[in-house]
Amino acid sequence: MILFASEVYGSMAAAMEKSVGLLPGKFCAKRFENGELHVEIGTQVAGEHCLILGSIAPPDGQMLSTFLLAHTLKKEGAKRVTAILPYLAYARHDKNKPGESLATAWIAELARASGIDQVIAVDAHSERARALFSIPVTSLSPAEIFAEALAGCGLTGATIVAPDEGAIARCQAVRTALRLAAAEIPYYQKHRTATGITHAGLIGRVARQVVIVDDILDTGGTLLSACEKLVEAGVDDISIMVTHGLFTGDRWKKLWQLGVRRILCSDTVPLPADVDASSIVMLSVVPLIERELRALAEI
Ligand code: R5P
Repeated sequence: MILFASEVYGSMAAAMEKSVGLLPGKFCAKRFENGELHVEIGTQVAGEHCLILGSIAPPDGQMLSTFLLAHTLKKEGAKRVTAILPYLAYARHDKNKPGESLATAWIAELARASGIDQVIAVDAHSERARALFSIPVTSLSPAEIFAEALAGCGLTGATIVAPDEGAIARCQAVRTALRLAAAEIPYYQKHRTATGITHAGLIGRVARQVVIVDDILDTGGTLLSACEKLVEAGVDDISIMVTHGLFTGDRWKKLWQLGVRRILCSDTVPLPADVDASSIVMLSVVPLIERELRALAEI
């Protein structure tokens, strides 16, 4: 298999090439002076299974490069194109509301039309999002990696809390990976209002030490609201564990003021340059993706 990796995933690609035995693919994506995108590949791909390790998250140029690269690989005769998108952007836009865009379905169509045969993502937000794709989407669960990290931080006795109903299954997977007996996951009912996010009463009991597990930390609004409620309830040791750390803007930094002790996050999205790397515990998803690629190589 030949791996075409976007620059932002350079170190992840190097690790995977070595351990899975992938051939590095050469390509260059640039813009003409008028801004139109152009991709050129420098590796023979006819009859080959090509992997693209990249992103479709903003800025939009990333998405366009990923799709144009896939189209170019197919045009040059690639037998199969698998897109490895550690963070499946747009997966949150998965609800069909009258008069509003259904961006997950749009992305799914663009991927298929660009020649992508299959997507491998980590924690792809929801089953509803996956179901909007007509090509297979594998969603790798980070639960084992999270469990290992919790054990490493001495947090196996903490209560795992879901910041909304959608996060319950994710929390349960972490409990299972920790080999803890099945238990109800305490969760909040999250409401989006014109002024932001609010959380209504915690459904379930919590210990004084809590780990909130969610898929995305974007602006931090969801986690801030959930943490405020936990502090009100007397919890004094809060940790946060998320799959995709987008860290948009500055609002999420208020989590520290609320007494959050640690934020653990996987490396599906490179940490923004303005985020102090020493304040976040980064967890590598490379072993997860490698395992999936080894299985693909055997097909
Ligand atoms: C929502 O469905 C997601 O699971 C996250 O809770 C949410 O998107 C996080 O966004 P923010 O950090 O902006 O609240």
